[in-house]
Amino acid sequence: MIISVVLLPSPNNPTGTALPPEAVTVLCEAVGESGVVVVDEAYGEFRRAGTPSALELLPQHRNLVVTRTMSKAFALAGARVGYLAADPAVIQALLLVRLPYHLSAVTQAVARAALACRDEPMATVAALRAERDGIVAWLRGRGWRVADSDANFVLFGPFADRHAVWQGLLDRGVLIRETGPDGWLRVSIGTPDEMAAFRSALVELKELR
Ligand SMILES: Cc1ncc(COP(=O)(O)O)c(C=O)c1O
Repeated sequence: MIISVVLLPSPNNPTGTALPPEAVTVLCEAVGESGVVVVDEAYGEFRRAGTPSALELLPQHRNLVVTRTMSKAFALAGARVGYLAADPAVIQALLLVRLPYHLSAVTQAVARAALACRDEPMATVAALRAERDGIVAWLRGRGWRVADSDANFVLFGPFADRHAVWQGLLDRGVLIRETGPDGWLRVSIGTPDEMAAFRSALVELKELR
């Protein structure tokens, strides 16, 4: 028997855009009993107000799995820990095949402590979302095309020579990512001061459009 595993990053990287729930539903129905649909919500906590999580679809789809990492919203990439939510039958099946001792007791304790203290990281997430929405509006206001972002980064462009823009920003002390579709750049959301530095550096590079 062939089992399909369909992986969907939502919000996606590097666009930052979350999938509409209808897309997840269509795929869950298409895959049916012959597999599972895994929605990777690594950036789920950053999604825009009104953007639903695939967690809300779990009651309707027994073949849906939603994964989260603690690397992003909890800034815990060094702990190498995440979790998933799915139908109890899927969880039972995973418990049968998972490796023994795949996650140390210390890591589990760290993750539980972080969850118990989630108010602080969630306040940071709220500040980053507001900063992100501000950058999206600012870039659009200056005529850039910007992908809708439900993540802690923003993809914008297009540039005739994106490397020149990336280098120009770096020369001004601003490091962003040269990634994604040709001609586009990805900026991660930082502190208000860092975003102000990004904005003024980009304005100085306006001749590179
Ligand atoms: C879409 C997506 N999923 C998952 C991850 C993995 O995160 P980690 O391996 O730190 O849990 C990343 C990291 O960049 C990501 O962009």
